[in-house]
Amino acid sequence: MAGDSTWWRRGAIYQIYPRSFADADGDGVGDLRGIVEHLDHLNDGTERSLGVEAIWLSPFYPSPMADFGYDVADYCDVDPAFGTLADFERLVEEAHRRGIKVVVDLVPNHTSDQHPWFRDSRAGRGSPRRDWYVWRDGRDGGRPPNDWASTFRAVGPAWTYDPASEQWYLHSFLPQQPDLNWDEPAVEEAIHDVMRFWLERGVDGFRIDVVQKLAKDPLLRDVVEGAPVPYEDWQPAIHERLRRLRAVVDEYPDRMLVGEVYLLDLERIVAYVNSGDELHLAHNFTFVHLPWRMEAFRAAIDGFEALASAAAWPAWFVANHDNPRVASRFDDDDQGPARARAVLLMLYALRGTPFVYQGEELGLPDAAIPPDRVVDVDGRDPERAPIPWRPPSEAGPGAGFTTGDPWLPLAAEAEELAAQRQSGDPRSTLALTRRLAWLRRGEPALQSGAQRSLDAGADLLAWVRTGDDGTALLAIVNFAARSRPFAGAPDLPPTAVLALSTDPDRAPGTLALETVTLGPGEALLLRL
Ligand code: GLC
Repeated sequence: MAGDSTWWRRGAIYQIYPRSFADADGDGVGDLRGIVEHLDHLNDGTERSLGVEAIWLSPFYPSPMADFGYDVADYCDVDPAFGTLADFERLVEEAHRRGIKVVVDLVPNHTSDQHPWFRDSRAGRGSPRRDWYVWRDGRDGGRPPNDWASTFRAVGPAWTYDPASEQWYLHSFLPQQPDLNWDEPAVEEAIHDVMRFWLERGVDGFRIDVVQKLAKDPLLRDVVEGAPVPYEDWQPAIHERLRRLRAVVDEYPDRMLVGEVYLLDLERIVAYVNSGDELHLAHNFTFVHLPWRMEAFRAAIDGFEALASAAAWPAWFVANHDNPRVASRFDDDDQGPARARAVLLMLYALRGTPFVYQGEELGLPDAAIPPDRVVDVDGRDPERAPIPWRPPSEAGPGAGFTTGDPWLPLAAEAEELAAQRQSGDPRSTLALTRRLAWLRRGEPALQSGAQRSLDAGADLLAWVRTGDDGTALLAIVNFAARSRPFAGAPDLPPTAVLALSTDPDRAPGTLALETVTLGPGEALLLRL
C-alpha cells in the first residue's frame, strides 16, 4: 500500500529493555523514571534526537525476574524495581507529548509460577484454574508426558513434576514460567482483558512474546520429523486466536500488534500478516540468523516481498535483547563497527518498519561478562549491558546509566561510545542514525515507497525506493571488507546526488553512477 504512512509504518520503533536503559533511583537497575528522563534522546521534535515514532518496552510488570520480567506475576501492575503504575502513566503522557507512541510487551504464552493463576492451578487437581495451565500424567517409568524440550537448552525437558498432585506441567522456557493453556477459553478471555487494561491506559500497541506458541497440538504429541511441529504454530487454531487478539486492539483507534514470530520459515511468517486481520507486523527472525553475505540478505528481503500480500508490511530488525549486537555479531574480521552502521542504513532504507534495539544507534558492541557476573540462563547478558549515557571519566563507572552498581557490567567501549560524547560528533554512529531517521521522516519514498532490488555487482546489496510522486532513492550496501564498484543498472539515470553515506569522509555532491565505488563496508543512499 504505497502512500499509506500510518505511525507504525512511517519510522523506527525503538526497543527499550527497561532494566538496562536508565536508572533514576540509583539501585543499579533501570526504571520507568529513567526512561522519562531520556525521552528527548528518542524524539524531541528536532534533528538532535532520533526522531523515533514509537518505543516498545520489554516487560516492566511485577516479576520474580527468573527471566528478567518475561516471567510475569501480575499482568496489570508495575514491578517496584521499575516504579509504579503512576510512573507508567506519566511515561505514556510524556511520550505522547513528544509524539512518541508506546508499545508494551504482552507475554501471553506463560506466566510466572508466582502468578496467582498458577498458584491456584497448582493447588490441586480439582482447583478451579487447574485447566488454565497444561497438566498431564507422566509416561511410564516416571518420564514426562512427551518429548518436548525447553527453548532454553540449559533447562532440558519442557516439563516439571509436581509431587503434590503427581502430575507434570508444561513450560516452554524455565520451570518458573508455566505455559498457559490456550485451549481453555477462559485463559484467552483473561488475556484479552489484560490488553484492555493497558489500552485503557493509552498504550498504542503490543509486542506479543513468542506469539507462535499460542496454539500447540492439543494432543501433545511427540515431535516427529516431517510432521507439523506440535509445540507451536498449530493450524488453524493459531490464526483464529490471532484474529481474536486483533479484534481486541481494533476496539480502540489506531493501535498496533507486532508479534515475535519466532519461525524461520518465511511462508509461515507471512501467514501471520497476509490476511490483514491478524498481526499488523511480524518480527522476521530470518535476519537475525543470517551470515554477513549479500546473497543471504537479498534472499531474505526478496523472499518476504515475494510472499507478502498487499496488506503485509515488513518489520526489519537485526538485534534485540535475546541476540548478539550487530557490532559484535558481524565482527569476525574487525569490520563490526562499519557493519553496524551499514545495518542502520539498511533498516531505515528498506521498505518496512525499522526496529532499533537500544544502543544500536550508538554502534554498541556486546559487553564481556565475567563468569561471576553471569545472570541469564541462556547466555544473553552481553547484549543486555546497560547504556553508557556519559563517559565514565566524567560520570563515574555507572556511565550516567546509574549512580549505583550496575546490575550488569557495561561494555568496555563505554568511554568512546557514550551517547553524550557521540551526540556532539558529526562522524559518530549516533549522528548517522539521527540523519537516517530524519531523512526518512522527510522522504515519503523511504516511508512508504515501492521497492525493487537491483543486480549491483559482487557483494553489493542494492535497491530503489520510489514514492508516489516519482521521487526515487537508491540504496547500496557493500558487504565486502574491500572496495567494490557499483555495476549500475541499465534503467538508472547517469548521475545521482549523495543523500548520505555511512563513511563520514565521503564527499557530498553529485556522483556518476558508472564510476561509483563503495569503500569497505560502506553503505550509501543516493537521490536519483
Ligand atoms: C521471548 C523473549 C525472551 C524470553 C522468552 C520467554 O523470546 O524475547 O527474552 O526469554 O520469550 O518469555
